[in-house]
Amino acid sequence: MAEWLKAHDSKSCRPPKGLEGSNPSPSAILIIFFMSFESWSKLHERYERQEWIDRPSIFAEQMRELLPLNGDLLDLGAGQGQDSRFFAENGLRVVSTDISEDALERSRSKTPDQLRDHMQWQQLGLSEPIRFDDASFDAVYAHMSLHYFDDATLHRIMCDIHRILRSGGMIALLVNTVRDPECGTGESVGHDTFRIHGVMKRFFSPETLRPFITEFEPVLLDVNGESYKDHAKGIHHLVRFVGRKV
Ligand SMILES: C[S@@+](CC[C@H](N)C(=O)[O-])C[C@H]1O[C@@H](n2cnc3c(N)ncnc32)[C@H](O)[C@@H]1O
Repeated sequence: MAEWLKAHDSKSCRPPKGLEGSNPSPSAILIIFFMSFESWSKLHERYERQEWIDRPSIFAEQMRELLPLNGDLLDLGAGQGQDSRFFAENGLRVVSTDISEDALERSRSKTPDQLRDHMQWQQLGLSEPIRFDDASFDAVYAHMSLHYFDDATLHRIMCDIHRILRSGGMIALLVNTVRDPECGTGESVGHDTFRIHGVMKRFFSPETLRPFITEFEPVLLDVNGESYKDHAKGIHHLVRFVGRKV
């Protein structure tokens, strides 16, 4: 492990000006990890009862036009795996990851036999470095799972994504919007960032996402994102980003 960390020291990817020096302490990471783990298992129990939970997301369907449909895709914060299964059905080999073992177990059990050869499941907490080899994926996808982190952590996640993508590989993200009525509620813990029902959430505009995506050639950055879950709550204008590693 020590060797791996030495070889993949995220500090070699320099944070943009203003984001330096704000790494959380190891004990803070531990507390965040256990809090997230607990709350997410409960939320996945609730998600299980939603009619959208087994449908590919609107964003995943849109990405069929923009992502490669062969090769290896990493799904971060994949939850119960509806989008992972969609990409596997469309020809990709998918590594479906989440912090919640409970979500991964639900995802495994929902996967039909014919897709199992195209999918792997792995517990992965994004507050920790992403431990995959350099240049091991053709696409990294994150649907509503990268808006839970402070600046330094998000920057490190983006550096890791850049490192593990092959040249020409694609990143596709959908994140919360500042137009979400939840933005501004709960306890304020940072810029456009709030602790709401025990979960830290941040809300983006294209402008506030931009400092984190500078390493990628942009293909799409807009506020035309939709999700079934948010649509039902009258929330539109989610922030979409698709970029290429050059
Ligand atoms: C809003 S859900 C989205 C799930 C899935 N992508 C979907 O669209 O249905 C956010 C997901 O991020 C996962 N998550 C939360 N914190 C995480 C962390 N620190 N590391 C990895 N995954 C995390 C949750 O377990 C959950 O599955």
